[in-house]
Amino acid sequence: MTSTDPGPSTAGVVVVGGGQAGYSVVSALRGAGYEGPVTLCADEPHLPYQRPPLSKKAHTEPDTLRVELVPESFYRDRDIALRLGDGVASLDTTARSVTTHAGVRLGYDHLVLATGARNRPLPVPGASLAGVHALRSLDDALTIGRALTTALDVVVVGGGFIGLELALVAQGLGARVTVVELADRLLSRAVSPQVETHLRERHESSGVRILTGTAVRAIEGTDRVRQVVTDRGTLLADLVVYGIGAVPRDELARDAGLAVGDGVIVDERLRSVTDPRVSAVGDCARHPHPHADGPVRLESVQNAADQGTLVGRRIAGAPGPYESLPWFWSDQGDVKLQIAGLRTGTDEVRVMPGGSPERLAAYAFRDERLVAVETLNWPAEHLAARRLLERRTRIGAADLAGTTLGALARAQRATEVRT
Ligand code: APR
Repeated sequence: MTSTDPGPSTAGVVVVGGGQAGYSVVSALRGAGYEGPVTLCADEPHLPYQRPPLSKKAHTEPDTLRVELVPESFYRDRDIALRLGDGVASLDTTARSVTTHAGVRLGYDHLVLATGARNRPLPVPGASLAGVHALRSLDDALTIGRALTTALDVVVVGGGFIGLELALVAQGLGARVTVVELADRLLSRAVSPQVETHLRERHESSGVRILTGTAVRAIEGTDRVRQVVTDRGTLLADLVVYGIGAVPRDELARDAGLAVGDGVIVDERLRSVTDPRVSAVGDCARHPHPHADGPVRLESVQNAADQGTLVGRRIAGAPGPYESLPWFWSDQGDVKLQIAGLRTGTDEVRVMPGGSPERLAAYAFRDERLVAVETLNWPAEHLAARRLLERRTRIGAADLAGTTLGALARAQRATEVRT
């Protein structure tokens, strides 16, 4: 028996959460030959689905929206039990069981928390008026999609990934759009000031009004939203959408006595530091990472998919540490933003135009070594960055003089083929 063998019990694996991370766990378990019982519990009634498309266009018809990761037969064929629409209410790590909201108790040998994150609520009066929406779920996307078909004045609160993607969708549908961002720049969590400046110019020239350093004081209206009061004036609005960040759903773990701190605290194999029979993956996990200076919690599809796969394989008997290179993307209207690696605010950033006004790359160096690359409309440079950063190739600013990562990656590949 290996140290990761589930042992003689047959309670199997319970996965809590039906997003990209939860799906990746159950898929990898069966893919790696795990034969015990597997149950996936999700509070949403839908089959696990992809979230990235939800903010990238207006969805109006549930029947035409195809976002499931795989059809139901995938789970049936692999004997994966789905409990949809009945989330887990409590966890007892001593009894090794969870209890669902409907009162069903499920025992486990291994529990995987893939509970994701929830939207940070908008902390102003009027935020619950009709016509004010946050986007996270498929149902939210349909509600917003339908509202966008008639909205004339849209106020987007939060200039992060979600807010900007939605702002550009609304603008493309002909609405007048204003983005209200509290910080003094857009996308401050995600991109360098250099890339932010470029994106802001693009968005403003396409007609989106952007107010940074602006606080929303209240949302007003009688039966539904009519205006948004900010510290710099009042904005007419028949639709308000907000995306002001997410917080991890770690309360199950916390209430069960597991270590949490802005996420479930796990080791390099993604096991709870308090109880190795509990793992956490995706947006809800805080973990050590070889590409970061300290523990991180990452909100991305790549992270959810890779962590879910790693834990599924580990439970099936193939252990290994988590070391995938983080990468992200966002569709900002017709600009594809891609990020490879993790940048911090103190890294030195150099920008290189990509040979056309539409393309750009920003290279972030720490201690004179390339650590992250942000690209606009330059997928080949993004893929080269991923390849080189994954291999920990040491690249300094001088190595990039007059060339690109694409050229460096090709040279590296040619050397490998020869040796
Ligand atoms: N008013 C206006 N803006 C605010 C406020 C506020 N009260 N509070 C925060 N903000 C701004 C932040 O400064 C930031 O620019 O909202 C933005 C939130 O951006 P993100 O942190 O990128 O979060 P969000 O866009 O909501 O995305 C949430 O979805 O796409 C995923 O990776 C993304 O997991 C993340 C999640």
